[in-house]
Amino acid sequence: MTLAELLPSIGCSTEPVLEEGLWPDGTHVSGSDLVIGGVPATRLAAQFGTPCQVLDEMTVRRRAQAFTAALPDAEVVFAGKSLPCPEVYRWMASLGLSLDVSSAGELALARAAGFPASRIVLHGNVKTGEDLKAALEYGVSRIVVDSFDEIAQLGALARHGQHVMIRVTPGVDAHTHAAIATGVEDQKFGFSLASGAALEAVLRVVEQPSLRLVGLHCHIGSQVRHVASYEEAVRRMVGLIASCGVRIEQLDLGGGFCAPYLPGEPSFDLFGFAQRVRGTLNYECRLHRVPVPRVLVEPGRAIVANAGVTLYRVCAVKRGVSRTFVAVDGGMSDNPRPALYGAQYVVRLVGRGGKLHPVTVVGRHCEAGDVLAENVPLPADVHAGDVLAVPATGAYHHALASNYNQVGRPPVVAVADGTARPIVRRETEEDLLRRYA
Ligand code: LLP
Repeated sequence: MTLAELLPSIGCSTEPVLEEGLWPDGTHVSGSDLVIGGVPATRLAAQFGTPCQVLDEMTVRRRAQAFTAALPDAEVVFAGKSLPCPEVYRWMASLGLSLDVSSAGELALARAAGFPASRIVLHGNVKTGEDLKAALEYGVSRIVVDSFDEIAQLGALARHGQHVMIRVTPGVDAHTHAAIATGVEDQKFGFSLASGAALEAVLRVVEQPSLRLVGLHCHIGSQVRHVASYEEAVRRMVGLIASCGVRIEQLDLGGGFCAPYLPGEPSFDLFGFAQRVRGTLNYECRLHRVPVPRVLVEPGRAIVANAGVTLYRVCAVKRGVSRTFVAVDGGMSDNPRPALYGAQYVVRLVGRGGKLHPVTVVGRHCEAGDVLAENVPLPADVHAGDVLAVPATGAYHHALASNYNQVGRPPVVAVADGTARPIVRRETEEDLLRRYA
């Protein structure tokens, strides 16, 4: 008896193994299909067309609950920019999370979701007059100010007692891609701790009769792997709290908790974070003789990235001089992350296995840099009509999508318990034409 024949008899599957941690919980290979949230990928591609961004609801819910369970004393604020969608915001509201938005547009989605204003935080290094007015009108609970101009503008617009936090640049290197490293000095976000601007911002807010300073905020970057980076931020922020001379009730440590994109990459050590950050915070507050503030965290990617899978259809296969190009019906308009950050992805052919051969998966857009994945193994006979699945596409994919080349943006289809429903519909030519004179 061969091993393959033996395994089913002892209860083991001979189905190809999916890369651990990258796919939504419970995703499995059945027969020749990939099943996500109980729904076969071939059915999703046929019913909703391709490209299609599939989102497993249970994975999103479980990841959100992992944060609230690991940090029971903290306020967990979903970073709305990572997956802007009213239905997703409703899930977060029902799980007791708060929400951060960074524009009047994201706030409009939150309003459409009926998200309680008492749990919304407004961010952004630029908030236009419209952003601020929309936030004040809805009554968002906290506005994170990011410049002296904004403090003055908000001071003039706000009614008495608008709660405010100050965005601080703590000078912490989070060891991530430069485009998403926001904790280091000399950049556009926040008030520098080292230069004294942060302390000056505290004084300016306190001077404004219409504002009430409730907290300090920092966000050291995105796709942060090391808990030590957050511990360092805590140390520096508590030092600032101690020199403020006013009571700081809330300390927002931002988001940035990493998610795996490639096999072997770790998930964020949430338990370690909870323990170590709590320990460091208590220690530093005791050392500086200041009351321990309530902690806020703002996860986005760690909740939604691995809940998402994008399905594409192969349109053409071309043999280059040294590479085989597999061209699909999407590309940098639904995933600009490889072009922006050199992001890498796993690609899997849905429907069959076979001898694997390295290929380059490219998009349909008019740029040679429109490459989705380089040097990924796919069955050697990959051909037009095949469906490809790309995991870890739940965060900053729908959010960053464009309609470059007037290609409509894909739908987001939520799957749960064997059913599928669009929570964002596909963008049509009518949608595109609506904006033009
Ligand atoms: N809080 C603030 C103030 C932020 O600016 C961000 C993300 C977050 C929380 C959530 O960070 P997360 O936990 O999702 O890493 N487009 C890039 C990511 C940009 C992140 C922007 N700010 C990407 O696709 O990797």
